Amino acid sequence: MKVLTVLGTRPEIIKLSSLVPLLDKRCDHLLLHTGQHYSFQMDKVFFKELNLRKPDYLLEVGSGTHAYQTGTMMMGIERIIRKTGSEVVIVQGDTNSTLAGALAASKLGVRLIHIESGCRSFNRHAPEEINRVLVDHCADLLFTPDKITYENLLQEGIDSQRIRMVGDTSLDAVLRNKALAQKSRILEKLALLSGKYLLLTLHRAETTDEVVILKDVFQAINDLSILTPIVFPIHPRTQAVLKKVGISLAPQIKLIAPLGYIDFLKLMSEANFILTDSGGIQTEGALLNVPCLILRKETEWKELVNVGKNLLIGVSYRSIISKIKELLRDKAELERLRFIPCPLSGGATEKILDVLMKEVFKDG
Ligand code: UD1
Ligand code: UDP
Repeated sequence: MKVLTVLGTRPEIIKLSSLVPLLDKRCDHLLLHTGQHYSFQMDKVFFKELNLRKPDYLLEVGSGTHAYQTGTMMMGIERIIRKTGSEVVIVQGDTNSTLAGALAASKLGVRLIHIESGCRSFNRHAPEEINRVLVDHCADLLFTPDKITYENLLQEGIDSQRIRMVGDTSLDAVLRNKALAQKSRILEKLALLSGKYLLLTLHRAETTDEVVILKDVFQAINDLSILTPIVFPIHPRTQAVLKKVGISLAPQIKLIAPLGYIDFLKLMSEANFILTDSGGIQTEGALLNVPCLILRKETEWKELVNVGKNLLIGVSYRSIISKIKELLRDKAELERLRFIPCPLSGGATEKILDVLMKEVFKDG
C-alpha cells in the first residue's frame, strides 16, 4: 500500500521522527516536506539529530500568508498524491502543512489519517484551532493523545469507530533521545547551572500578533530577569515581531537562536521551570517532571493542567509576575509539582503502527 506522510514544521518533524522509520519498513512509504519551516535551525537540524531520512518530495513553499501557504501546499500535495498513486495520507498536528495535507487528500478521496486529533483550545482566533477542527472533520482515522481529546471528538459528532486513543508521539522522541541529551554541553556553553534558570519559549500568533499582550509579557519577563537567569531560544516569528514593534529584552536575558533537539532537551531537563506557549513543550516538560507555566489564556493540553502538573498562568503582566515570583520563593511547591505523577507515557508510535498494520495496511 502506498502511503504518503506530510510534514512541514519543527514540531511535526520531531513528533513523526519515531514513526517515519517504522513506516519505511512496513509499507511503500513516501515522505513529503512542504517547506513551511526551512531555516537550518527550524528544519534540517532535526533531520540530522533525529537520524531522519531525507524527504522524497520537497515543496519548498516557505513563509507567507495563511492562504498563500495552505493553497500552494495543497496544489503541491495534490500533484504528488496523483503522481505517486498514494492511497493513504498521514498528517500530524495543527499547522498549515497539516491542513493542506488533509484538504488535498480528502478532496481526492484518499484515506486521511490524523495523528494528535481532538486537541481543542476552543479559541477560534488561533489559526491552529481552525486547522485542528477542519483536519479532524476530514480525517477517516483519528489518533488522539488522551481521553479528553477523544471526548472532544465525540462531542463534535465524530463516529467513535474512527477514533483510536494512543497517546502522544512527542513523548517517544523524548524517551528515544533522553540519554543522548545528557551528553549535551549546552549548559556549559551558555554558562548556566542546573536547576538555576528558567527556560522561555514564545511563538504563538495569538501572543506575538497582539502588541498589547506581547508588551505585557515581555515587560514581565524583563522584570523577572533581575531575579533569575532566563534563557530564551527565540523562534524566528517572535524575533521578527519584536524587531517590528520595537520591544527590547533586558541584556541579562540569554537570547539565543532556536536550538537543535538534543540541546533543547537538555535545557528543558535541567531547568528550574519552563515558561512557554508551545504545545509540544507542555507535554515534554511534564514527562521530564519539569514544571511548565503556560503563558496563554487556554490550552489544548488540558489533562496536564487538570492534574495540576502544568499551570496556566495567562498573559497579563500581573499574573505572570505574581505566579513566577511565588514559585521562585516556594521551593517546596516546585518540588510538589515535580512529584505529581505525569499522566502521560510513551508508546504512542508503536500503537499507531499496530493499528495501521491491522486496519489499514491489511489489504496490501
Ligand atoms: C507554525 C504553526 C504553529 C506551530 C509552529 C511551530 C501554522 C499556522 N502555525 O507557526 O502552529 O506551533 O509553526 O514552530 O502553521 N520563519 C523563518 N524560518 C523558518 C520558518 C519561519 O524565519 O524556517 C519565520 C518567517 O518570518 C515566517 C515566520 O517565521 O513568516 C512564521 O512562520 P510560519 O511557518 O508561518 O508560522 P510559525 O509561527 O512558525
Ligand atoms: N524545540 C527545539 N528547539 C527549540 C525550541 C523547541 O528542539 O529551540 C522543540 C521542542 O522540544 C518541541 C518542539 O520543538 O519538541 C516544539 O515546537 P514549537 O514550540 O515550535 O511548536 P508547537 O509544539 O507549539 O506547535
